[in-house]
Amino acid sequence: MLNFKHDIPTKLYFGKGQLEHLTEELSRFGTKVLLAYGGGSIKRTGLYDKIRVMLDKGNFTVFELDGIEPNPRIESVQRGVEICRANDVEVILAIGGGSTIDCSKAVAVGTFYEGDLWEMVTNSKPGRKALPLVDVLTIAATGSEFDGGGVISNLTLNDKMGASFTYPAVSFCDPELTFTVPAYQTAAGSADIMSHIFEGYFSKTSDSDLSDGIAETILKSVIKNLPIALATPDDYTARANLMANSSVACSGIPEYGKQSTAWPCHAMEHQLSAYYDITHGVGLAILTPRWMRHILVKDSTVALPRFVRFARNVWGLEGDDEMALAKAGIDRLEQFFGEVGIPMTLTELNIDRAHFDEMAAKANKGNRLASAFVPLNEEDVKAILEACL
Ligand code: NZQ
Ligand code: ZN
Repeated sequence: MLNFKHDIPTKLYFGKGQLEHLTEELSRFGTKVLLAYGGGSIKRTGLYDKIRVMLDKGNFTVFELDGIEPNPRIESVQRGVEICRANDVEVILAIGGGSTIDCSKAVAVGTFYEGDLWEMVTNSKPGRKALPLVDVLTIAATGSEFDGGGVISNLTLNDKMGASFTYPAVSFCDPELTFTVPAYQTAAGSADIMSHIFEGYFSKTSDSDLSDGIAETILKSVIKNLPIALATPDDYTARANLMANSSVACSGIPEYGKQSTAWPCHAMEHQLSAYYDITHGVGLAILTPRWMRHILVKDSTVALPRFVRFARNVWGLEGDDEMALAKAGIDRLEQFFGEVGIPMTLTELNIDRAHFDEMAAKANKGNRLASAFVPLNEEDVKAILEACL
């Protein structure tokens, strides 16, 4: 088990009714609020009106950053920064999913950043000065509510970059707010949660019982609760479990004591989103089984024991032929993603091989995938992308 340090400054309110603490928490930081949100779901669900009433009652002065895109753009960060600077905003209130929270994190840092905002993203450094951020999460997926990272897109450059920005000061996670998430986004978000686990679980460190136990528990919980949430969108228990899984999966906790792995599926998926603006979790679901099969063959000495463990502990599969067992676990995962309604080929998303060369080079920029569980080069990435067509 390797050394680790963990320092999360985020206060998390979890459960129904917790929004009653929203204005008391916001007022710790000031009265001038930037209210940031996405493409309108919070208006359709009534959450916007509810929160505006709370803010009015609390005598907050509210400025709005609306229309934050899924895969948030640098242009939205720029808009938010301009509003914060022009109005001396004291605290950002992000209401939405990972896209809204990530954009808000970038705005929080960008408000004080002297220089080009895209350069701030590409040359990311943790610990930069930032406005305080409070968020109300509306979809279980990224874990942005409980981590310090954010992912910003620059579609002019076909770039999508993960960066360290700032942790939320306070996150509100009420599972009831996720009852309205459409089936496609519910499934995609769950695939993202699972991928955050896979990126740490498939590591060379195999003696961290706590991490592996948490990882397997989260995977089994998503496998159990996602079909329930799809069949019965207002099932509180299913939504609550997905939401709690979301926050922990990307928090670093399931990687305690483990070798870091360069997160290869995320590196590849960010290229798909950068070129084709697809839903993050869908890209991950398509890539993951193909990546798994590729590394199982490329270095079975390293990979086989973990895939056998995955098949046994997560899917409950049995058998003496270890390679057959490992492959069956991967097949089961691919089948699961298909059963929950995720399109499982790039062709279905109208993606062909036209940009595979550039995407492979960008995914492996700085030879970063050399430190993956099974190291990958650009030819590996292209082979995995080809297998996804
Ligand atoms: O934009 P609105 O109208 O709000 O609609 C959203 C959007 O269309 C909708 N939605 C969200 N909550 C809803 C709802 N619709 C109805 N009812 C609700 N309660 O769902 C759609 C997707 O929202 P989005 O915020 O884009 O989803 P997600 O949370 O999956 O965020 C994806 C972004 O986060 C990044 C991804 O790359 C992508 O850009 N990631 C962020 C990470 C982080 N900060 O740690 C890690 C992840 O690996 C990921 O890369
Ligand atoms: Zn992700």
